[in-house]
Amino acid sequence: MNDKKIIIAGLLVFIAIILFPFWYGLLKAAPAPELKLTEKAKAAKECVRPTEYMKAEHMQLLDEWRHSVVRNAKRVYVNQSGKEFNISLSNTCLDCHSNKADFCDKCHNYASVDPYCWDCHIDNPKEKK
Ligand code: HEC
Ligand code: HEC
Ligand code: HEC
Repeated sequence: MNDKKIIIAGLLVFIAIILFPFWYGLLKAAPAPELKLTEKAKAAKECVRPTEYMKAEHMQLLDEWRHSVVRNAKRVYVNQSGKEFNISLSNTCLDCHSNKADFCDKCHNYASVDPYCWDCHIDNPKEKK
């Protein structure tokens, strides 16, 4: 009887040690940041494209936007549901997401990306903090 308990206890310790890299990793991984939406974004409810698309593909969309303006002089974007947007990183994206630090930056810091766009584009179009 007692031997059985000791063997089971021993096995449990052994398993815990074998799995150390996994549970240690779980404890250490930083949680994904919580993103704040501005009142304006909350009121709009939707982004330019569906959230899942934006989450994964916003850089491609911005690339498309840049191409459209710089190459084709086309400054209006029409999304899937027929809604029109003025093509502008500062005046459209950062109009709704005017809390860049709590939105774009927070996620970029977490993901260790550092877009260089703000070397030229105004990151604070309304001079708000
Ligand atoms: C009219 C307001 C509005 C504009 C303009 C806008 N967004 Fe959004 N955006 C939102 C809203 C609202 C959400 C959150 C939707 C939700 O909660 O599902 C969002 C979500 C996102 C997300 C996903 C965040 C997450 O939860 O993971 C990204 C990334 C994003 N926007 C980037 C952009 C970029 C880049 C632009 C310009 C190309 C832009 N947005 C323009 C309102 C806007
Ligand atoms: C949910 C997290 C998240 C949010 C919110 C977010 N981004 Fe990003 N962004 C990323 C990730 C992750 C990458 C890197 C993707 C890659 O390398 O493929 C990225 C890349 C980019 C790039 C391309 C950078 C490069 O050097 O290639 C641009 C531009 C960009 N984001 C703009 C924005 C803007 C503007 C906002 C706010 C309106 C925003 N992002 C909000 C996660 C986010
Ligand atoms: C060296 C300066 C410079 C850098 C860096 C830069 N841009 Fe631009 N971008 C411009 C200029 C100049 C225009 C043309 C402005 C116009 O005609 O309205 C432009 C236009 C755009 C446009 C369409 C018009 C607008 O006002 O938004 C988008 C979208 C854009 N760039 C996205 C980006 C993104 C995303 C990045 C970073 C990955 C970036 N740009 C980095 C100079 C730059």
